[in-house]
Amino acid sequence: MNNIIKDEEITKNMSGVKNKFMVFSGKGGVGKTTVAVNMAYRIMSKGYKVGLLDIDIHGPNVIKIMGLEKEKLTSTNKKIEPIKAFPNMKVISTASMLQSEDSPVIWRGPMKMKLIRQFLSDVNWGVVDYMIIDSPPGTGDEPLSIAQLMPDLNGGIVVTTPQNLATLDAKKSVRFAQQLKIPFIGVIENMSGFICPHCGERIDIFKTGGGQKIALEMGVEFLGRIPYDQQVMSLSDEGKLYLENYKNGTPVSEAFNHISNKIIGLC
Ligand SMILES: Nc1ncnc2c1ncn2[C@@H]1O[C@H](COP(=O)(O)OP(=O)(O)O)[C@@H](O)[C@H]1O
Ligand SMILES: [Mg+2]
Repeated sequence: MNNIIKDEEITKNMSGVKNKFMVFSGKGGVGKTTVAVNMAYRIMSKGYKVGLLDIDIHGPNVIKIMGLEKEKLTSTNKKIEPIKAFPNMKVISTASMLQSEDSPVIWRGPMKMKLIRQFLSDVNWGVVDYMIIDSPPGTGDEPLSIAQLMPDLNGGIVVTTPQNLATLDAKKSVRFAQQLKIPFIGVIENMSGFICPHCGERIDIFKTGGGQKIALEMGVEFLGRIPYDQQVMSLSDEGKLYLENYKNGTPVSEAFNHISNKIIGLC
C-alpha cells in the first residue's frame, strides 16, 4: 500500500537530518501544533538541533503560535533558507510562502505533494538532530505524501483529547499509520485534566485516560498526558511559546519534559 517514492534529490538534501517524527491526528483542534512546537522547543533546550516542518497547507499555524508571521523566506544557491526561530531551530511552513494569512489555499492533492516535495528537496536544512513534522487533521494527502517521500521516517505520534469521539478518530490514525507501514511511536493525550488558574493544581474535571485506553487497546505506546492550562492558549494567541515562558516546574512543562525524553530515548 505504501508506494514509497525513491527520490535522489530528497535523499541528498535531507542527508543531514537524522531523526524525523510526524505529529498527526484524526481531529482538528486537539493540540497537534501546540505539541509539535513545544516538543521541538523542549528537545532543542536539551542541546539538540531541531527542524520544524509545517505541512498543514490549509491551516498553517506553527508560524502564528511562534510569532514568526513577519519572517519571509529567503533563498541562497537555489535553496530556500528556513526561518531561524532560535539559533538551533529552523522552521518552514506554507504560511511563509502565502501572500495573505487569511486567504484560503485551494489546492488539489498533486499540488500539495509538489509543495511537500519542495520542502524536502529544496530547503537548506543542513544538520538537524530531530525534525518534527506538524500535519493537518485527518489522513489525507499531506501525511500520505510524507509517508511516501520520507521512507526513513522514524515514526508517527498521534495526539488526541480524552473524550470518546476524539479517541475514535485517533484509532483511525493509528490504523492509517499501520496500513502505510509508518512505524508508530505512540499516543499523547492532550487537554487531560485542568490546571486551576488560582492554585496551579491539576483537577480532573474532564474525562481523562482516553488516550491511554486506546494505546492499550491497540497495543501501542502511551507517551504521556498534557493537562489543559489557560496559559497555553493565551500565550499561543499572543504568538509566544508556552515553554519559553514556563521552562520548568509546571504540570504542562513537566509533561513536555517527560514526552520529549521518551522521544529522545528512542533515537
Ligand atoms: N494543553 C492545552 N491547554 C490549553 N490550551 C491548549 C492546549 N493544547 C492546545 N491548546 C489550544 O487549543 C487550540 C488548538 O490547538 P492546536 O495546537 O492549534 O490544535 P491542532 O493543531 O490539533 O488543530 C489552540 O488555541 C491552543 O492554544
Ligand atoms: Mg494544527
